[in-house]
Amino acid sequence: MLDEYGRQIDYLRISVTDLCNLRCRYCMPGSGVEKKAHTEILRLEEIEQVVRAAAQLGFKKIRFTGGEPLVRRGLTELISRISCIPGIEDIGLTTNGVLLKEYALPLRGAGLRRVNISIDSLQAAKYHWITRVGELSGVMEGIETAMAAGFSPIKLNVVLVGGFNDDEIKDFVDLTRDREIEVRFIELMPVGEAADWDAAHFLPGSEVLERVPELMPLPFKGRGGVARYYKLPGSRGDVGLISPLSDCFCGGCNRIRLTADGKLKPCLLSDFELDIKAYGTDMRCFLTDAIRAKPMRHHIHQQDAVPRVRNMNQIGG
Ligand code: 5AD
Ligand code: SF4
Repeated sequence: MLDEYGRQIDYLRISVTDLCNLRCRYCMPGSGVEKKAHTEILRLEEIEQVVRAAAQLGFKKIRFTGGEPLVRRGLTELISRISCIPGIEDIGLTTNGVLLKEYALPLRGAGLRRVNISIDSLQAAKYHWITRVGELSGVMEGIETAMAAGFSPIKLNVVLVGGFNDDEIKDFVDLTRDREIEVRFIELMPVGEAADWDAAHFLPGSEVLERVPELMPLPFKGRGGVARYYKLPGSRGDVGLISPLSDCFCGGCNRIRLTADGKLKPCLLSDFELDIKAYGTDMRCFLTDAIRAKPMRHHIHQQDAVPRVRNMNQIGG
């Protein structure tokens, strides 16, 4: 379905839980979040109903996010049910990778096509620091298991944090030399926990190109998506830059987001949301209202427009 600005909205991101087994500093408070009552969280059957209505409206692509989606019980079964819905062509998962060692194979069997794995440092001590509790070796094993399970392409999401991982940009890029993976650098967004972080922590995606000038642009890859792609000469994998702040891609935005507590967010970077409870069983209307309410672009550069109501663990990135 087209929105008010002529954009084809066919991509639904679904956060299945706001809980997480990590506590990344820019995303969650150190104390974690309080577990919501069961009644506040959408049941898996309700999520399936939303996806069925979305498919009827022309949605083709679904991505499960969190918190950490793999801590929600029953996700594998939900994916296998959704993969049978006519019109749904592509199902993806954004995960921190911690539980992939266990789940990669069953997920592949359930019809999952793509996994994006978040990893902000390749050094064990720094990885532990940014996640507050994480073990790098566990994620590395998760990545290996996902590759062995046949997920392709595997994408690694790296949130660029000035003064933390800018010195590792080259190490991340080097991972693409002989592996078929995409390393995607994401600009840190001033949302939730990171809303009041010091300016020095926010780096533009162009920092990657300054640090690794050998990267060559790939003009035809990723058109329509949010990343701009680059490559090292002769490398097997690619490097993507996702720059919502320095290179706003709102004009090509094709997505809306469903939160675990049943709110549709027309825009990631706005506090505006619609509540499923106001729609009874009319999921089509729920979705079309959200599409109609999509703003032309975000206004994150204005101080008073920084979204604060939800932390990223409640939206899913
Ligand atoms: N800015 C940019 N990316 C973020 N993520 C979480 N919080 C932020 C933020 N403030 C990322 C996670 C993960 C994805 C779901 O969103 O690291 O890769
Ligand atoms: Fe968990 Fe992802 Fe948030 Fe880290 S960024 S705390 S892995 S939801």
